[in-house]
Amino acid sequence: MRILFSLLALIALAPLPAAAQSGDGSSEMRVAPILTTPEARDVWTHAKPEEARVTHVSLDLTADFDAKEMRGTATLEVIFAQGAKQVILDDAGLVIESITDVEGAPLEWHVGEASPNIGAPLIIALPRADAAISKPDDPQPNMRVIHIRYRSAPGASALQWLPPELTAGKAHPYLFSQGQAIENRSWIPTQDSPGIRQTWDATITVPADLVAVMSGNRMIPDGVAAGDSHRSFYFVMDKPVPPYLIAMAVGNLKFRELGPRTGVWTEPEMLDKAAYEFADVEKMVDAAESLYGPYRWGRYDMLLLPPSFPYGGMENPTLTFLTPTLLTGDRSNTDVVAHELAHSWSGNLVTNATWSDSWLNEGFTTYFENRIMEALYGPERAAMYSDLDWDGMERDIKAAGGSDAPSTRLHGDPGETFGQLDYFKGSNFLRMIEHTVGRERFDAYLKGYFDRHAFQPQTTAGFLADIREHLVQGDEALEAKLKLDQWAYQPGLPDNAVHIESATLAKVDADLAAFKSGAAVSAIDTDGWSTQEWLRFLNGLPRELPEARLAELDDTLHLSQSTNAYVRSAWLELAIANRYEPALPALYEFAGQVGRGLLIRPLYAGLMAQGEWGAKIAADLFEKSKATYHPTTAAQIARIVSGTATGE
Ligand code: BES
Ligand code: ZN
Repeated sequence: MRILFSLLALIALAPLPAAAQSGDGSSEMRVAPILTTPEARDVWTHAKPEEARVTHVSLDLTADFDAKEMRGTATLEVIFAQGAKQVILDDAGLVIESITDVEGAPLEWHVGEASPNIGAPLIIALPRADAAISKPDDPQPNMRVIHIRYRSAPGASALQWLPPELTAGKAHPYLFSQGQAIENRSWIPTQDSPGIRQTWDATITVPADLVAVMSGNRMIPDGVAAGDSHRSFYFVMDKPVPPYLIAMAVGNLKFRELGPRTGVWTEPEMLDKAAYEFADVEKMVDAAESLYGPYRWGRYDMLLLPPSFPYGGMENPTLTFLTPTLLTGDRSNTDVVAHELAHSWSGNLVTNATWSDSWLNEGFTTYFENRIMEALYGPERAAMYSDLDWDGMERDIKAAGGSDAPSTRLHGDPGETFGQLDYFKGSNFLRMIEHTVGRERFDAYLKGYFDRHAFQPQTTAGFLADIREHLVQGDEALEAKLKLDQWAYQPGLPDNAVHIESATLAKVDADLAAFKSGAAVSAIDTDGWSTQEWLRFLNGLPRELPEARLAELDDTLHLSQSTNAYVRSAWLELAIANRYEPALPALYEFAGQVGRGLLIRPLYAGLMAQGEWGAKIAADLFEKSKATYHPTTAAQIARIVSGTATGE
């Protein structure tokens, strides 16, 4: 099977598309560099990449829905420094059966002590020199192949195994993976650090009535039969990617083309709605390319998942994963698509070397996303999104403890930056630079930045050095105006931040003012409101309201019945803050269905802020809903409900 696939892969890969050339015109590098500067050291991995590192992962796995495990082999290509004796991988609960060299001879290995939250080191002795294979065209003499036979544990944190009831069709099971930030070590034995880029390929064998998709090139569209009751699908990612971007889903999936290089995968029940909602995606790719240079990943497809998907979107290369809560029927949440697409540059092409610098992924992407939305729908629509982000930034800074709180810094310890400040403050940083140097100059700089660092890791220090070299260029007056170090390293918001205000949202503010001075809800014209107008309104309402006012809001605007998940979540947050019990059935229905952290964590946190009344409901709600949540979301909510975490 593998040989057949490899042959097919060779044929399919033979003519490398022009887009696979790197910026300077040379052909794609297969082995990506690592950074060895002190700030690029990743404390969330056990790997020591300067001694030995994985450059290619080849998976051959079967999805066993009964045992809830991925089972099979991982074959790793490892390069190493002179004298290195071992390679260290990351391992979160993998069940390892054997580890051998390329000829099948056993290698010595052991699993070291687990560290809190990051799993254990899997330490493997490198095969002896005579077992080395050296490919004639491979410039790396110090390369060994390691073969691991293993399976994932049933509770693997990257994987959610859904019973048919939790899918749209309710007839077939479903499986998906979520790698970011450090979950993939629960199903792939490799060095799970964003600074260690790897190419990969995978054969995924699934029950014959299901289809597998992955974040790489799909080599045989319909797969091949594997025995009577199974089918194998083969995927190749020929560009080095950080391992958190290896992703897979299996289900009753159908595909609809939306443009020459774009399309959507989902269950047949959601296909029409998805195709309507995301109709503009091809235009988004075109707009993104004219802003910051070629799209280098071939196809840009999307996978619309069941509602338990823990995020709004996840930028898996060639195949963005999306929550179905985006399907509001008015295309007002396609900023999430623009966001995940933008990650094809900021994040997937130039990647934070460690999670201490996640703003390099998320802040750049939030800025870029807004530029795509502006290119497609004009400045006012973009202003709505950035104005709401400004609100979010102010809320987050306050919740973090104010402008002096260390967690309001962009560069900090991994996971330290509060809430979504890596998005909000990070994108404001770039917007400030745009406004200071002018759009044309900043766009030219950014295009060059993506080119210079394509397929490489990046740090805050590296970005600052690059912008000083290529944009500031010794201009002292400009340097003083920008306050780059303050933005990157200090808490709070520097005084040169730019607040974009939306005229559409200003109208909503007028409605809010009227409401606050006692106007009837029925006097507010909410006809045709986008998600953004609803959010400005609902989040702008006083946090304390009399029961009669809450009832009036719900009766007039039908908030508890809203099919827009953003509206429903914002309303429930307000209802909870007021201990408004008539909204509880809507809360139970919502939290038992939607697993998107951003929409449900605030509800649990809000309940916990309401003393015993809320804590009791939170515990009961979690008990009834937790089976529907992804393991990472379930763990976050367990911490909120047990009082050991906030709902950020
Ligand atoms: N990469 C993130 C999702 C993510 C973040 C996964 C942190 C794991 C850890 C993705 O690009 C993202 O930011 N999604 C947002 C949507 C965006 C429009 C703000 C989301 O999920 O809400
Ligand atoms: Zn993102």
